[in-house]
Amino acid sequence: MWTIKTTYREELNSTFKRLEDKVSVLNKARPLPNIVVQNIREAFLVEWTFNSNNIEGNTLSLRETQMVLQEGVTIKGKSLREHFEAKNHETAINKLYELVKPNYVLNAKDILDIHGLVLRSIEDEHAGRLRNAGVRISGANFVPPNARKVSGYLDDLIQAINTNTQQLSPVELATLFHHKFVWIHPFFDGNGRTVRLVMNLLLMRHGYPPAIILANDRAKYYLALNQANHGNYTKLMLLMSQALERTLNIYLNAVPGLDKDYQTISSIVEEPDIPYGQEYVSLLARQGKIDAHKEGRNWYTTKEAVLAYVNSKS
Ligand SMILES: Nc1ncnc2c1ncn2[C@@H]1O[C@H](COP(=O)(O)OP(=O)(O)OP(=O)(O)O)[C@@H](O)[C@H]1O
Ligand SMILES: [Mg+2]
Repeated sequence: MWTIKTTYREELNSTFKRLEDKVSVLNKARPLPNIVVQNIREAFLVEWTFNSNNIEGNTLSLRETQMVLQEGVTIKGKSLREHFEAKNHETAINKLYELVKPNYVLNAKDILDIHGLVLRSIEDEHAGRLRNAGVRISGANFVPPNARKVSGYLDDLIQAINTNTQQLSPVELATLFHHKFVWIHPFFDGNGRTVRLVMNLLLMRHGYPPAIILANDRAKYYLALNQANHGNYTKLMLLMSQALERTLNIYLNAVPGLDKDYQTISSIVEEPDIPYGQEYVSLLARQGKIDAHKEGRNWYTTKEAVLAYVNSKS
């Protein structure tokens, strides 16, 4: 059975708590106005597809991905494969929205179906099929298990997720799933894209928005996975939490009355009643200690969040 050393808890408890609070606020505000849900889903469809495919090596830009998905255009100079990767990822996300229900129980068939959609028309002979031979992950500090063990490991992992004997929170469970899944590496290709889809099913069934790992964070992401291979989950948990906080804030900000005034850290530290400098507030944001999220290269937080931290320390 798969367990996880929860040594990160002490450090990240306040972050997890803040995310849980935000989700319960969001879930209480449901059903959200249709226009809000539509607008955000469309934006996430493009962002999620762009970021996940870019991590995997797809060269379509965010704007090009949007044009392919929403305008049905073909981008000059980009391969047919890259276009398929974008369209397939969209189909797979739509499948997740179909599957997701509060009592959703993870199962192997859905995982294979999602993988099948990811590689459809690209590698049809492998789409939706477990690998039957060895693989190597370049740059990783481990070699995935023998192909004969894949099916059994995958079943064990699914069972561990569904029984959740350690009573892990949705964020922890999704992170554990992500790490163990890429360790098993069930497929010849498309493991990364598939796991970034399926882990979000685990979050979405609890009313969380999807966690979108940003292409900007690719190096950090691989480093965090390597550390998880050594049993140290702190970085990976933090990365997932940060990805979730960003999408959660996007939802909350789109609900009338729940929006907060997020500003760049550089503008907040200019306020006379903020006793900290930019470096320190950025550190608090990166460590998950204050309500903050990153857009592109900039961190955003609120004046209230910084003042609340100041008060908690005095
Ligand atoms: N150091 C590592 N430790 C554990 N897993 C890793 C490591 N480096 C990469 N991986 C995982 O392996 C995945 C790559 O697997 P694969 O090439 O089959 O998937 P992909 O979808 O084609 O690519 P990508 O994951 O890059 O999108 C990465 O996304 C990541 O999740
Ligand atoms: Mg690949």
